[in-house]
Amino acid sequence: MQRLKGQSALVTGSSSGIGKAMALAMAREGANVVINFHSNESSAQQIVEEITSEGGNAIAIGADVSKEADVKRMFGRMFEAFGTIDILVNNAGLQKDASFVDMTLDDWEKVIGINLTGQFLCAREAAKEFIRRGVVEGRSVAAGKIICISSVHEVIPWAGHVNYAASKGGVMLLMKSIAQELAPYKIRVNSIAPGAIKTPINRSAWADPESEKKLLELIPYGRVGVPEDIANAAVWLASDDSDYVHGETLVIDGGMTLYPGFVGNG
Ligand code: BGC
Repeated sequence: MQRLKGQSALVTGSSSGIGKAMALAMAREGANVVINFHSNESSAQQIVEEITSEGGNAIAIGADVSKEADVKRMFGRMFEAFGTIDILVNNAGLQKDASFVDMTLDDWEKVIGINLTGQFLCAREAAKEFIRRGVVEGRSVAAGKIICISSVHEVIPWAGHVNYAASKGGVMLLMKSIAQELAPYKIRVNSIAPGAIKTPINRSAWADPESEKKLLELIPYGRVGVPEDIANAAVWLASDDSDYVHGETLVIDGGMTLYPGFVGNG
């Protein structure tokens, strides 16, 4: 069953990690997919080849999502290739960790620029096209779907990562405010908040057994997540199966936000 057949999806930051898994999963569900990359073009091309060899349809487009001109150019190229957009996955994100007093303005601006401003710029371009085009009968009952990739750190404060936590806290109210504003156009907007997922962004937290053991103290379900845990949920949120889900953050974290430190304590 191809739940996204005939739809076109843009997954920002999809040359690795969670973005890559979501792009592959959406292509397998029948979507035409844009693999957006910032610097890793060869990895993006490999993912395009993987999708094409499975009979899917994908193209790679380079763009820095924090730059308005790049974002507009990326959407222009997507519309040339696929005609329109049905699904935006705002995934591109990074960490630039530092203790608060040592955090530079550049560390702050880079993270806010990509993680928050980038989501604003891409959502705005997608929303304009969804409103222009409206619902296409037989393709989806919604005029468009926006999925913001947030983090458990939209609610959990994170010492040593204040730029990152601030960006994700911002994503939460960006998502909810857009959801409130765009609902009358039949545009669905939701977030996924992953916990610890094995990807390059947090490799140092799980790559050796000692670190993984320490990380598992934060995860009641007893395993670190994998990108497919997020990709499966992203497909569902993009599909009509979740049509009445709107303005919601789906937390996928093995229970990290259950504050396991309180077991036998407090
Ligand atoms: C961060 C990871 C971290 C996880 C749980 C994610 O948003 O990018 O580095 O392991 O949250 O703390």
